[in-house]
Amino acid sequence: MTQPKKVALLGGDGIGPEVIRDARSLLTDLQSREGLALDLWDLDLGADRYLKDGTTFPKEIQERVRSECAAVLLGALGDPRVPGLEHARDILFGMRFGFDLYANVRPIKVLGERLFPLKKGRGADVDIVIFRENTEGTYVGFGGQFKKGTPDEIGINEDVNTRKGVERIIRAAFEYAKRHGKRRIAMADKSNAMRFAHELWLRTFDEVGREYSAIERRHVYVDALCLYLVQDPTQFDVIVTNNLFGDIVTDLGAALQGGLGMAASANIHAADPTRVAMFEPVHGSAPPLAGKDIANPFASFLTVGMMLSHLGFDGFERRIETAVAEAIEEKQCTVDVGGTLGTRAASSWVRNRLLVAAKR
Ligand code: NAD
Ligand code: IPM
Ligand code: MN
Repeated sequence: MTQPKKVALLGGDGIGPEVIRDARSLLTDLQSREGLALDLWDLDLGADRYLKDGTTFPKEIQERVRSECAAVLLGALGDPRVPGLEHARDILFGMRFGFDLYANVRPIKVLGERLFPLKKGRGADVDIVIFRENTEGTYVGFGGQFKKGTPDEIGINEDVNTRKGVERIIRAAFEYAKRHGKRRIAMADKSNAMRFAHELWLRTFDEVGREYSAIERRHVYVDALCLYLVQDPTQFDVIVTNNLFGDIVTDLGAALQGGLGMAASANIHAADPTRVAMFEPVHGSAPPLAGKDIANPFASFLTVGMMLSHLGFDGFERRIETAVAEAIEEKQCTVDVGGTLGTRAASSWVRNRLLVAAKR
């Protein structure tokens, strides 16, 4: 028998524990019914734990995750009781930066025309994957505050871009495009304003792009990208951009999919997929929804699909997507996507549908 792959589960805060609870049930269904070889490990980390004993992301857990796990499935982090977000930063960035997961891969697919908010075009024709740089940019925390609380106060966050960091995410996007037969790739920056940092992106995009002559490359400024995505998202296949712009643009992308309840993501070391990777829905902890059984669990289900594909368990991602699309079609879903069900009921419906589909 093959050695099961170890997956750490971390619900986190707000709605995170609810959607990961259901994602966990989905995984245990597949373990018991289909022999999915996974060894699940629940991590008790997040705001509750931090408020209890000050723990954020201890070194020994980090090392165990790095050396023992194939993947982490994470809910969300962020709790109004921790306004400085210390634990969220330690855990989220502890994984993204600490495990060097430089590619944040965020697909934009529309799993039901009803969810597509634009008047023109069809959701079915939208199929975009955004490659967000995940280890640099304004997120590195270079900077500081000076004369805080005085009228002369200064706040600085530097935008850090290295040739290595820029090149590897651009290369990851081209490699993905090549592997998946995608014709077009767009790189979004703000080189007209951020001359030094983003000229590096422009030049690297051009240099790396020349190695992939079959793929049409296009440079767009990120402000125009927002415009184009709303005017006609079908003009894009793969988009690559920096950390901050990627964060913002993927929320816009989520709106095209029917909201954050439908958007999945992977954080990977694209050049070495054997390293531990982290998978999370794009949404946050949505504190106003927490504990009410109203959060949409589908983003976390679709994230499980991405995780299983990454781990080499073929076929599950497509099946999960199909079951979720059927739930949307039959309105067996939560209110944010036009249904009337609670989190648990929407989850059960999809899990059952997967069971029935497996028997067919
Ligand atoms: P959010 O994603 O939590 O919520 C934004 C909007 O989307 C809200 O209207 C919310 O109700 C809705 N929404 C989100 N997920 C949903 C779901 N599954 N079902 C239905 N509706 C859903 O973003 P926010 O309000 O800006 O942030 C809340 C907290 O989450 C903050 O602390 C933020 O820092 C954190 N956050 C964490 C992550 C992460 O851990 N990966 C990601 C984003 C935000
Ligand atoms: C995301 C989130 C995070 C980010 C926050 C919580 C720091 O918005 O994963 O999209 O900006 O990367
Ligand atoms: Mn975000």
